[in-house]
Amino acid sequence: SQLLIPRSKSTPPMVFHWFPFVGSAVTYGMDPYTFFHENRKRHGDVFTFLLLGRKVTVALGPKGSNLVLNGKLNEVSAEDVYGAVTVPVFGKEVVYDVPNAVLMEQKRFVKAGLSTENLHVYVGQIVDEVENFVANDSTFSALKAGKPAVIDTFQAMSEITILTASRTLQGQEIRESLDKSFADLYHDLDAGFTPINFIMPGLPLPANFRRDRAQQKMSRFYRDIVEKRRAAAEKGGLESAAGGYHDMIATLMEQKYKNGRPLSDIEIAHMMIALLMAGQHTSSATGSWALLRLASKPEVIRELYDEQVRVYGDGTPGSFRPLDYETNKTQLPILDSVIRETLRMHPPIHSIMRLALKDLPVPATMGGDGSAGKKSDTQTLIIPKGHSVLAAPGVSAIDPSLWPDAGEFKPSRWLEAGQLKGEESSSTSPSDTVDYGWGAVSTGANSPYLPFGAGRHRCIGEQFAYLQLGTIVATVVRGFEWEIEGGKFPEPDYTSMIVLPKAPARLVMRRRKHAA
Ligand code: HEM
Repeated sequence: SQLLIPRSKSTPPMVFHWFPFVGSAVTYGMDPYTFFHENRKRHGDVFTFLLLGRKVTVALGPKGSNLVLNGKLNEVSAEDVYGAVTVPVFGKEVVYDVPNAVLMEQKRFVKAGLSTENLHVYVGQIVDEVENFVANDSTFSALKAGKPAVIDTFQAMSEITILTASRTLQGQEIRESLDKSFADLYHDLDAGFTPINFIMPGLPLPANFRRDRAQQKMSRFYRDIVEKRRAAAEKGGLESAAGGYHDMIATLMEQKYKNGRPLSDIEIAHMMIALLMAGQHTSSATGSWALLRLASKPEVIRELYDEQVRVYGDGTPGSFRPLDYETNKTQLPILDSVIRETLRMHPPIHSIMRLALKDLPVPATMGGDGSAGKKSDTQTLIIPKGHSVLAAPGVSAIDPSLWPDAGEFKPSRWLEAGQLKGEESSSTSPSDTVDYGWGAVSTGANSPYLPFGAGRHRCIGEQFAYLQLGTIVATVVRGFEWEIEGGKFPEPDYTSMIVLPKAPARLVMRRRKHAA
């Protein structure tokens, strides 16, 4: 039911479309950034488009991000837009299937699992997985004959991402099953995580039946692990089933809600699935873009290598001390800046959505080129209740009015600005942060750089992602030099939920030669 909007208020300008219902689905879906830029020129920072029957209001610029990401709980809802696609994949009783207050507690549990102690253990495990993959996977078999390996960047990064995430966060049982049944279940589940499900959930597609079956089996799989660990602990007379494990299952088995209730096995299982899905495409896309961007800037690969020699070199060319968490975190500014810059140019998530639960007034100061802002002198611009609202922080991250050489991959910009190692927001003073129950986050989303979002739904995987990606890139840099096959930098592909390099995006990888 559409609310009547009084005349003194105006609604955002509507993007023209030829076809009813379909609206701008094709232009938005094929290339969201071009769609945003063109409509921003025409309409300003706030405009509405039709997406398969849904009214979606885009709010661009840092103020737009703030409006969407810091909307109050009674103003905007994430679960109402994300629930339909995520609940069948993650399963019930977690994330967007529960009230926000419960999600905030569930995020606290995950934070507890990403402890320094655990992250410490993960570095060596990740190196081990990457080296094993290079040594044993057929992708790299040409190396054995002394030839360069030609790899499909995203495919290789996807494998490395799931191998490293399961060895670390997911736990040894998942890692061991990856070579077997678990991989197929993952594939079927993932195939149900698509834009079509996002826009038209519940279609009786064969893929959705496979998704539902895979969800049930995977849920069972995780619950079996929990039961076995609990039984083993009881048999061994241990107080806790967490002993000896550094993974997320162990953490979740020990956590309690504020009311004292421990997590049910179902909640543990479904949170593990949610984490698996949340980290997989985001990290594998980012890792792919990082390797591709580096390939187009061999001088930065050289700088990364020199940094490894400076910090970890043991005096013999090509020989290094093992990577470790503390050193990675504090002494590798170039590696850090490469990941940061990759996420500036290629944030994996191009659209962050909420449902407007009430009419949302647009701040008078908003309006990009001024068109939306001008109206506000006499009229209040209102995003009507029932619209989806969409933030696209990636637009500001490449806005030439906000960044010098915005279109250039230039990791050094982060070193010059001295902006490394902080929260993305310029302010980190305690008075400017809020704690939603899982850690302090900056109150403002008024930053042009928000690859991990902001506010109550902000990412909690950032630290893990940096550790995982940094360790993978460092390991590759130690062993290889590489270039893009054919030399041409790939276009982005927006047709899945995540921004991927358009296939084929292949790299030619050569083992580094070290002077004796
Ligand atoms: C939320 C990005 C990796 C778990 C988010 C959001 C963004 C994001 C933009 C906010 C979504 C919204 O507001 O609607 C990224 C990027 C990653 C990454 C760029 C890697 C480069 C991970 C990993 C994990 C993870 C590795 C798990 C270990 C989560 C969770 C949320 C989240 C639990 C919270 C969802 C909510 O509160 O609604 N992420 N993410 N992410 N991410 Fe990540």
